[in-house]
Amino acid sequence: MTFPKINPTTTTAWKKLEKHFETIKNKNMNFWFDQNPNRAKKFQINWKNFFVDFSKNKITEETMKLLFSLAKETKLKEAIHQQFEGFPINETEKRAVLHTALRKKEKEKEVEETLERMKSFSDSVIEGKWRGFTGEKITDVVNIGIGGSDLGPKMAMEALQFYKNHLNVHFVSNVDADQAAEVFKRLNPETTLIIVVSKSFTTLETINNAKIFRKWFLKTIPKKGMMQHFVTVSSNLEEANKFGIGKKNIFPMWDWVGGRFSLWSAVGLSLCCGIGFNNFCKLLEGAQEMDEHFKNTDFKENIPVILGLLSVWYNNFFEVETEAIIPYSHYLEGLVPYLQQAFMESNGKNICRNGEAVPYQTGNIIWGSTGSNAQHAFFQLLHQGTKMIPCDFIGFKKSLHQDQQSHDMLMANFFAQTEALLKGKSKAEVIAENNHKNPENTLYTYKVFEGNKPSTTLLIDQLTPKNLGSLLAIYEHKIFVQGVIWNIFSYDQWGVELGKQLASVIYENLKNKEITKDFDSSTAALLNAYLSS
Ligand code: F6P
Repeated sequence: MTFPKINPTTTTAWKKLEKHFETIKNKNMNFWFDQNPNRAKKFQINWKNFFVDFSKNKITEETMKLLFSLAKETKLKEAIHQQFEGFPINETEKRAVLHTALRKKEKEKEVEETLERMKSFSDSVIEGKWRGFTGEKITDVVNIGIGGSDLGPKMAMEALQFYKNHLNVHFVSNVDADQAAEVFKRLNPETTLIIVVSKSFTTLETINNAKIFRKWFLKTIPKKGMMQHFVTVSSNLEEANKFGIGKKNIFPMWDWVGGRFSLWSAVGLSLCCGIGFNNFCKLLEGAQEMDEHFKNTDFKENIPVILGLLSVWYNNFFEVETEAIIPYSHYLEGLVPYLQQAFMESNGKNICRNGEAVPYQTGNIIWGSTGSNAQHAFFQLLHQGTKMIPCDFIGFKKSLHQDQQSHDMLMANFFAQTEALLKGKSKAEVIAENNHKNPENTLYTYKVFEGNKPSTTLLIDQLTPKNLGSLLAIYEHKIFVQGVIWNIFSYDQWGVELGKQLASVIYENLKNKEITKDFDSSTAALLNAYLSS
């Protein structure tokens, strides 16, 4: 069985959607809400601790019907089956895509064994049984990695700070050594555990940082002490060994888990140390429940399917280029950077699964930030700018702190923003608000809000490890849905290779202080300016 390879624009549903788009592109959502007081009920899903309202989108029942037909014609159901069953759907790398196997109930032996190792390792570090070379307890854990080997654990560590134990967990990713220098200020090598996370163990940034940390460590502690202080998560045993990390300290990674989907594997080891194994398991459980929902639920009630289809609707028919994600929780500050990699490394592709150039738009630009801070930053553009930007609002019914008043204020803003985006404010309302003083006052026009701006609301019970797991899995599956419809391969990332190749040539030139390559005049001038400083 091969993975579906259907150009979506050749489907009957696509053609019908094009026609349908013409009939509704200028319609105002407020009209639909006025016409049908039950509109919200038609476009909402209650699933476990999640309430998803997608009624504030530019859709009618007919739109959804056609989008479901599009999913059917592009064989989304078959694609989901193939992914979960471990078919090599990442064809350009000849790999299966099985991050879902890391969290399923009946785990394979190697996954179960790794989880057991993670448990005993993290327990002993947390309980102070794992000692440093000089006999000190570990107080600080440093995760060295980049991209998927950094963003996931970092985001989740921030998101689940509330559940954190006494260990301080730090993240070092950038090849800019300033980051490492700042982290060193807070560390004592005798009480520090370093986890080098690199699937390939060849990533320049990570290996360079690992070397910087090794050098720093060896200034105080003899080489044999590395056993108690250096651990790695990698699929490249040979390189890890060469670096000086013994077999016992290597946690595996598998080629069927993509970097940006690897939080659920031993890549989450630093997180596991920081929040404890039980909480880590709850994160997996939440994701697993969402996997079941995605796999088994009819598309009409299927959260990731609906979110993915809405994205296609906006991207390919309304021609929107970006989507904003706005979590109303300070803990979720790392969510947008994490999702930027997940979405844009997956679906930023211009070649379809048949090997030809795609003749339509694919991956959207993902951006955003936490509310309410974002309201005082970029919301002006959302409300009165000229671009249509569908937004996801993510909020929680219950806070983790005890200050209900503050939570109500935060959530009042959360609800008000989606209402404002939908309803806007007419000129008549502005004039009425100003007691009808001089209706010819042109300043009034600046205070008008068009409204009719789309948003989707994800209202979740509380920010728990389990709910976070489900939330992340929603987005992972949304990415998959988009990729299937767009007929692209979501699980490779060839687009990051060229820059790496060119950087290694330039680095040689910089190191030798001599330009040997025939660079374009712009790059040559920049390099000369750098070298002459
Ligand atoms: O940026 C490309 C990439 O391959 C990502 O997909 C990955 O998450 C990151 O680099 C890190 O790779 P590694 O874990 O092999 O160091």
